[in-house]
Amino acid sequence: MRQPIIAGNWKMNKTLTESVEFVNALAPRIAPFSGVERVVCPTFIALPAVADALRGTDIKVGAQDVHWQEKGAYTSEIAPNMLQGLAEYVIIGHSEVRAYLNETDERVNLKTKAALKAGLKPIIAVGESDTQREAGETETVVTRQIRAALDGISAEDMAQIVIAYEPIWAIGTGKNATGETANEVIGGMIRPTLAALYGDQVASATRIQYGGSVNADNMAEYMTLPDIDGALVGGASLRLDDFTKLIEIAAQVKGV
Ligand code: PGA
Repeated sequence: MRQPIIAGNWKMNKTLTESVEFVNALAPRIAPFSGVERVVCPTFIALPAVADALRGTDIKVGAQDVHWQEKGAYTSEIAPNMLQGLAEYVIIGHSEVRAYLNETDERVNLKTKAALKAGLKPIIAVGESDTQREAGETETVVTRQIRAALDGISAEDMAQIVIAYEPIWAIGTGKNATGETANEVIGGMIRPTLAALYGDQVASATRIQYGGSVNADNMAEYMTLPDIDGALVGGASLRLDDFTKLIEIAAQVKGV
C-alpha cells in the first residue's frame, strides 16, 4: 500500500523565526497522524533551524529546489550535498520555478538525477497551463514532462520519487481541479505513463499527489480517489489549523 504524503510548500513565506515557531506549534498537533507522511518545505535559509526543531519527530523536511551541479560558480544556487542532513525531500520542477526561473524539462531531469545521487527524494511537479488545457494538450504536456523528468532514471530509483500533479491554472488561484479532473490526469495519464516506462508494479507503487488550491473543504474529495496519494499544498500549508486539518482528513479518508 502507498503511504499517503502531504507536503507543505511554503514558497517565499515565513522568516526564520516564523518558520521555527510554526513547526514548534505544528509538530504536536500533527503527531497523531503518523500514518500520513508529513513534510514541510521552508525556504533554504530556514532549513537548518526547521530541521533542528523537527529532530526527534517523524515530520520530514523538504527543500523547494536544488541545483544539479555539485559545486562551482553558480551564484545564488544550492548544491544537493548542501541539503544532506537538512532535507529528506526536494521539490523539483515546480511551475513557479518553470515560469519565473526558466526551469526546463532537461534541468528537471538533471536535478532529479543529482538529488537522487545525493540521497534526496525528489517530488517532481508537472502540470498544464489553462491555455494548454483548453487546447486539449493536457495529456501531451504532462506525459512529456514526466518522460523528460524521468529520462535515465532506473526502476529502482522510482521508489524514492513522488510525482505531484499541479495544474498551473489551479495553483494559488482558488480554482482547484475537481477530483474527477485530477483523477483523470493522475489515474488516466500519469500512472499509465509510469507503467509504459517501468511496468505495472512500479506504476502502482509510485506515490502521486495532487496540488493546486487544496483546502480543508476539497481535501476529502481528492483523498477518496484511490489513485491520489496525497497533496502538495501551498497557501493552506502556511496556516496551522488548515494544514493540521488537511493531514487529519488524509489520515481519516485513507484509513491510516
Ligand atoms: P496552492 O499552491 O495550494 O497555494 O495552490 C500549491 C503549490 O504551488 O504547490
